[in-house]
Amino acid sequence: MNDSLTELAFADALKSVARNLQLKQYVQQSAEWYPILLRAAERFVTGDVLEQGLSCRDALDAKGYRTSLEYIGENTLTEAECTQAFLEFSRLIKACAKDRPGTRISLDLSHIGLSVDEDLAYRHLLGLAGQAEEAGLELVISMEESAKTDAILKLHRKISAQFTNVGITLQAQLPRTMEDLERILSDSPGTIRIVKGAYQELEGHYIPRSEMLTSRYIQLVDLCIQAGRPVSVATHDETILRHITSNETYRVSAVELEMLYGIRPNLSRQMKDDGFPIRIYLTYGEEWFLYLCHRIAEHPPNIYDAVTRSIQGGTDTIKQY
Ligand code: FDA
Repeated sequence: MNDSLTELAFADALKSVARNLQLKQYVQQSAEWYPILLRAAERFVTGDVLEQGLSCRDALDAKGYRTSLEYIGENTLTEAECTQAFLEFSRLIKACAKDRPGTRISLDLSHIGLSVDEDLAYRHLLGLAGQAEEAGLELVISMEESAKTDAILKLHRKISAQFTNVGITLQAQLPRTMEDLERILSDSPGTIRIVKGAYQELEGHYIPRSEMLTSRYIQLVDLCIQAGRPVSVATHDETILRHITSNETYRVSAVELEMLYGIRPNLSRQMKDDGFPIRIYLTYGEEWFLYLCHRIAEHPPNIYDAVTRSIQGGTDTIKQY
């Protein structure tokens, strides 16, 4: 096997490890492994409590970045845990309402009920959208694996009939996305975040990283702009980012760039200094295991940094912005 095939196999293996709920629970409950692996995760995750997320947000805010904040988690399997997640999101909204109304709140619907019961997820979403609206905040729903796309879009459509402050994330890698976007542009008002897609999908059911995916990504962004819709270009792909930042049309429309905390901070800084609105996506919470696996799978050389950090710690990510 050549090196790039080895990397692809490694990324696939890691994405399937990330989906292993027993392993996730084991790591979360292990007194030995939790603190060791958390040191690796801390490159991408602000910490395991709200106060760490808020303090990182304040530091980035002071440097001129916009921020998104997520209480991290997904595939929550009991009603009690979904309610706990709902309450934590309420706490997050209250904290942001008080001092930083510009913060965007992001969430996975399977964190607040979708893996238990659609109605439960909707009740929680309804509550959070109302609290966020009152606080002058925007909520953006994340997109999960394609088995959940229909359910997520259904709840997004339903909530959009009542609230204008709820946005949605769409994955360029799914062939269906063009059609989904056209429908959303015609019937739902919120921000649209375009991502390539982080989940392992079945062969033939997604567009792999390629020039074709890049041009499709740009096409989706362009459709949002033509419709006059606020769009978040959420990627670290320099080809896409340079295309957007070097073109005046994007500068004058409601486009912002959004990047994950800990990924290509130098590039974020460069684009911010160039005058482009840039938002950094921050996460906090105890369920960082799957998130860590995704960030390594996307860029397998991250495994070196993860191992080094686990053993001897690493530099504070915030200093790189
Ligand atoms: P791509 O994977 O092609 O990477 C381009 C370049 O960026 C790489 O060559 C590398 O240099 C760098 N890079 C990318 N990932 C890196 C990493 N982990 N470490 C270091 N360098 C890296 N996905 C999803 O399915 N549902 C969702 O809701 C979201 N939400 C979301 C929000 C935001 C704000 C962002 C930025 C991303 C997401 N994602 C997501 C993740 C997204 O789908 C995708 O997996 C990652 O952004 C990586 O893909 P890129 O677009 O960066 O391109």
